[in-house]
Amino acid sequence: MKKVKILTVCLGNICRSPAAQGILQSTAESCKGLALEVDSAGTAAYHIGHSPDSRSIQVLSEVGVDISGQHARQISLEDFECFDWILAMDAENLSNLQKIQPECSKAKVVLFGQYCPDVTFGEVQDPYYGEQDGFIKMRDKLQVIAESFIHHLMSSEQDLHRS
Ligand code: 4NP
Repeated sequence: MKKVKILTVCLGNICRSPAAQGILQSTAESCKGLALEVDSAGTAAYHIGHSPDSRSIQVLSEVGVDISGQHARQISLEDFECFDWILAMDAENLSNLQKIQPECSKAKVVLFGQYCPDVTFGEVQDPYYGEQDGFIKMRDKLQVIAESFIHHLMSSEQDLHRS
């Protein structure tokens, strides 16, 4: 089975994108016929090498997802060659990614929330400067978006096999 390679991206790679990575990995595990390889990165270099924010680790552990082993890194130009999908958490991340995407890159660079039927889900807000409840909202939103995105992937794969 061919693996779909996905990179989740936020600003610092310590709050949203590591959470999105963990949630996508765990959601995909229950989907037969779908093999994902998921990684995450930040557009900024502030936190290279750091573990995810302890608040992200905590809220994810409450739903059985362990992201404590991840380490932050900054996106590189090679990522645009390696990954099939590059999923931005907010419009600013998306715009920054689009500015650096090489012309030869075939990666689909999109807003993660765009596959969610509820349009108000488009962006995942940065919870870093807020309180713990912002991290819970982030997690809950990412879970809904991940379901929608995986549903989109599964239906596109089925279309490919039919055509
Ligand atoms: P993230 O959140 O982009 O979801 O990882 C942030 C983490 C750190 C900072 C900003 C956003 N910072 O300014 O250090």
